[in-house]
Amino acid sequence: MSRGRFGVVLVSLLVTLSTVSCQVPDCSSYVILNQRWRSLNFTRGTELHCDRDGWVTQWYRFSGAAGTKMPNLCDPTQHCGTHAPVWINGTYPAPEDGAVDRQACAHWPGDCCRWSMKVRVRNCGGVFLYYLPTTSDCWLAYCGEY
Ligand SMILES: *[C@@H]1O[C@H](CO)[C@@H](O)[C@H](O)[C@H]1NC(C)=O
Ligand SMILES: *[C@@H]1O[C@H](CO)[C@@H](O)[C@H](O)[C@H]1NC(C)=O
Repeated sequence: MSRGRFGVVLVSLLVTLSTVSCQVPDCSSYVILNQRWRSLNFTRGTELHCDRDGWVTQWYRFSGAAGTKMPNLCDPTQHCGTHAPVWINGTYPAPEDGAVDRQACAHWPGDCCRWSMKVRVRNCGGVFLYYLPTTSDCWLAYCGEY
């Protein structure tokens, strides 16, 4: 292999590695979501939340009053501190599956998936991590349950 060719291969390998590392968490780097209003039990009050403006797309873990994971059944509207709570449409992966793509849906009356986002989910031995993008609209918020 020529040196120029080797350089191209090396650069594309590094690009691949850095892309993969941002998509696959090491099970220890995540940001905690623990707000009480995120809980499925929490019926929306006058305070409305939206995970759009100021949201950072990264790996998250639900904890504390927010619950431990996202529901994977259509959740009721006007819960989780928002109009359209976001849930995971699909099954949870096993630890050996690594990070998997899932559809996240926001429920609006009459349509369990009125808005949808592509997310990633990883099972870190019973602890779930989620790579969550900015929601497409307001008022949508990622929901947690126990
Ligand atoms: C949410 O509601 C469920 C079912 O009523 C209950 O078991 C659970 O403890 C509640 N969680 C919180 C944080 O209130
Ligand atoms: C959930 O995903 C399945 C499989 O992709 C799809 O057929 C179904 O319509 C989705 N559910 C909703 C409520 O959109």
